Amino acid sequence: MELLRKKPIEKLIAESNGEQGLKRAISAKNLITLGIGAIIGTGIFVLTGTAAAMHAGPAIVLSFILSGLGCVFAGFCYSEFSSMIPIAGSAYTYSYATLGEFVAWIIGWDLILEYLFASSTVAVGWSGYFVSFLKDLGVTIPEKFSQAPFDHIPAKGWFMTGSIINLPAVGIIIFICGLLVTGIKESVRFNNIIVIVKLIVILLFIGFGISYINVDNWKPFIPDNAGHFGHFGVSGIFTGAAVIFFAYIGFDAVSTAAQEAQNPRKDMPVGILGSLIVCTVLYVAVSAVLTGIVNYKELNVAAPIALAIDRTGGLKWLSPFINIGALAGLSSVVLVMLMGQPRIFFSMAKDGLLPESFAKVHPRFKTPYITTIVTGLTASVIAGLLPISILGELVSIGTLLAFTIVCAGIIILRKTHPNAPRSFKTPFVPLFPILGILICVAQMISLPLDTWLRLIIWMAIGIVIYFSYSRKNSHLAKEKEKLS
Ligand code: ALA
Repeated sequence: MELLRKKPIEKLIAESNGEQGLKRAISAKNLITLGIGAIIGTGIFVLTGTAAAMHAGPAIVLSFILSGLGCVFAGFCYSEFSSMIPIAGSAYTYSYATLGEFVAWIIGWDLILEYLFASSTVAVGWSGYFVSFLKDLGVTIPEKFSQAPFDHIPAKGWFMTGSIINLPAVGIIIFICGLLVTGIKESVRFNNIIVIVKLIVILLFIGFGISYINVDNWKPFIPDNAGHFGHFGVSGIFTGAAVIFFAYIGFDAVSTAAQEAQNPRKDMPVGILGSLIVCTVLYVAVSAVLTGIVNYKELNVAAPIALAIDRTGGLKWLSPFINIGALAGLSSVVLVMLMGQPRIFFSMAKDGLLPESFAKVHPRFKTPYITTIVTGLTASVIAGLLPISILGELVSIGTLLAFTIVCAGIIILRKTHPNAPRSFKTPFVPLFPILGILICVAQMISLPLDTWLRLIIWMAIGIVIYFSYSRKNSHLAKEKEKLS
């Protein structure tokens, strides 16, 4: 069956030996910072408060543990894959070798959704912080130029907000896109500085905030269910997990840099699991301190951490640092997302599933500049026009689907390629991958129907492109034609 044709692992590995022209410039330490750069962002700075106020209460801490656990299981599977197949492309590449071309296309298309929309989502979050930062300095950007012109509420459907465009969101994407086109090494250095700023800000919040915790705010730790699914109680912990899952998205972006890692076999698992573990610990601590300082009922605001700082009274001096840290943090997330996406395009184009021109590497900068520019332009239009809630939910469901397929891929690969060299092995297969699948699917089920519909529409568009273009132009298909 041609839909099941697989790219031989040996071929993938041969392709990874530097022939494709990308520079091997990233060390293991830089991979961890790349991961942290991708992970800590809008999720913790913006969505934690909403998830606590609307879904989980103080038990948002448990949502973070649950969602983080799912990511660790998926992270093990990602690590095994990327240590075996150290080339650009992430879950797309892995599934091409294991589950066949059609599933690979599906997952590649799904990853395009993840990275493209995530960079737009975070750019919109960045815009919010930027506007409030400028406001503190006495500069006001009118709403017409800092909000999305379109919005959607289930009861009302789509409507126009009266705004024209979210200009700061467009601006940050174009700026970072420029950095990425001019070279990976410079971009990684920029990222490292930002990650340090972001970590310091979060550690300051935890370290100083802890003494302002009022344990009464943690009672009841799991508020009673409010009458329907996902509103507190145990189901609320699950819906809370699905919402804050966005906070973990990004560690998989590390694997898209495999082709630029100095020593991919050893460094990829260190990069992926290392960044994930650091972030999980920080998230649990931040959410515990946050719900300890402010009662969860009051946390449904755009900047919950800033609210908590205000509430302490004594920590007001921290406010500007938090603002700058959030701005820096969100910029680095946009950077990694914008960096991951073109590399998926790059791999798909190399395989003939997308037009060849996407695979062009810049002669001097050695970066996939065409895809970077196409991605940047598209992401900036999306960020300029749509609101954060629509974008964020879509990213979460798409990424949960990708993680589910990756976990399934590991189980299949152990059966089909039991002896292929693996410098990292997921422990307790099939138990760990199965737990990963169960936790991801449980979170998907906890997301609203509208989000499912958008995912289905995106996938339907992808399937049309596959059958009208990619299936015929696939290099594997052409090779087969030549042989027959
Ligand atoms: N994990 C990233 C964030 O929270 C996508 O912004």
